[in-house]
Amino acid sequence: MRPLIAPSILSADFGNLAKDIEMINRSEADWIHIDIMDGVFVPNISFGFPVLKHIVRIAKKPLDVHLMIVQPEKFIPNIQALGAEIMNVHYEACTHLHRVVQQIREAGMKPAVTINPATPVWMLKDILPELHMVLIMSVNPGFGGQRFIEHSLAKVRELRELIAQIGSKALIEVDGGVNPDTGKRLVEAGADVLVAGSAVFKAPHPEEVIHTLKNL
Ligand code: DX5
Ligand code: ZN
Repeated sequence: MRPLIAPSILSADFGNLAKDIEMINRSEADWIHIDIMDGVFVPNISFGFPVLKHIVRIAKKPLDVHLMIVQPEKFIPNIQALGAEIMNVHYEACTHLHRVVQQIREAGMKPAVTINPATPVWMLKDILPELHMVLIMSVNPGFGGQRFIEHSLAKVRELRELIAQIGSKALIEVDGGVNPDTGKRLVEAGADVLVAGSAVFKAPHPEEVIHTLKNL
């Protein structure tokens, strides 16, 4: 199966965001990946709701929102108001993860849980039946343009096995250092969704990179 592609606008041109979002609208991308950072959970701050309000006006693809913040449950109503399809919260940021996942579902969104590079896949065993998707970070979250951590491939394979074992339907998404080379190996390992920031937006022809990723 061809992977779903979610370009991350973190690497887009913030001085001309509308142009880059229109490019995603025209492209073969399936979703738009939105990275929200708070300077606490990760050592960087990206953008917040005043900016997102304008992004969603232009965006025509489903929003895949990745919250790199503490207490993400506080913002479920704000993410819902954006019309987001998927809300990703970090395993490491939620003490009561099961409750947060229920709240996301009750708000009408698809719940996804993200794990940092140091968090083993098997920690998700008990929550997996409740999830629409797992996001495996293949860099330490906070910045675009970092180098892919090779061990992420083993995590994708391990998660694929765990999903089969428990009969879950969860998708596997991977985020960080994804390009046509790492993307191909991720898809072979069992990834369903590829997030790509700099590989898309720093390329001379972003739409072609999206096409390449879609047809790995
Ligand atoms: C990093 C973000 C990513 C980031 C990926 O913390 O979660 O979505 O935009 O950027 P690249 O693809 O450049 O590694
Ligand atoms: Zn992300």
